[in-house]
Amino acid sequence: MAEVNTWDTEFEFALEIVKKVGEIIKNAFLRDKVVTEKSSATDLVTETDQEVERVLIKGLENKFPNYRFIGEESVAGGLKCELTHDPTWVIDPIDGTTNFVHSNPHICTILAFMVEQEVEFSIVYNPILDQLWTARRGKGAFYNGAKIQVSSCKSLGSAILVQEVGSATPDRVNMLTTNSTTFIPRVRSIRSYGSAGINLVYLAMGSVDAYFEMGFHIWDYAGPSLIVREAGGVVQDVSGSKIDYLARNILAASTPELIEQIRPNISTITMERD
Ligand code: IPD
Ligand code: CA
Repeated sequence: MAEVNTWDTEFEFALEIVKKVGEIIKNAFLRDKVVTEKSSATDLVTETDQEVERVLIKGLENKFPNYRFIGEESVAGGLKCELTHDPTWVIDPIDGTTNFVHSNPHICTILAFMVEQEVEFSIVYNPILDQLWTARRGKGAFYNGAKIQVSSCKSLGSAILVQEVGSATPDRVNMLTTNSTTFIPRVRSIRSYGSAGINLVYLAMGSVDAYFEMGFHIWDYAGPSLIVREAGGVVQDVSGSKIDYLARNILAASTPELIEQIRPNISTITMERD
């Protein structure tokens, strides 16, 4: 029988390099940043985002010359976001860039390793608070080395739901307003950490119970969604189908019961695929 590749070398190397670029982020965190607007004033990039992505790609490419890349800032710079069946590193150098610009510590670097369009392992690292979340397919999810699991919440009335403004296009603002009107009276409370990666890993460790977002990208949710799944949570497309990494949306919750109470009531928007 053919041996199954467990991608150990890739995982260990990725961990090292993500921690290394954490130093770049930490050094820049309290300083004034050079900020540029991408699609709008609510969609930002800093020189640090770009530098971190460059260092990650260079380091990974030196070690593994045959793998492909999808990186948030490379795509912003004009490269195509193309997910093939080949081994691919999916990179969000700083998730929560608006937080970073404001020296708000809810930020992380997200690195996912995908093969055959499935996430094999993923790393989410907040260098400011030294918080590391990892998951490898079929092997559980971990926070700073300790195994984590989602909450056992089954009732929407006892749930903390995450909602995000994200990049505030008019259709997203309308959607958020409608969903807030629908869900605020039905849940225990709402949170918004300003980073899709942090939202999802908090769900994975039981700090919040459910989250849905539309309009973000593969680098925001592919990696962290494996951490939720490996922690026992449910992730799917907002339509109820299997998660689609190019469809730019996710519905994630601790239990199938929560999913069933949320999904039929979500107001959605149509988005161009990545
Ligand atoms: C954003 C954050 C935010 C989410 C947006 C993302 P960025 O990523 O994850 O929480 O709501 O949709 O674009 O721009 O900070 O890397
Ligand atoms: Ca991001």
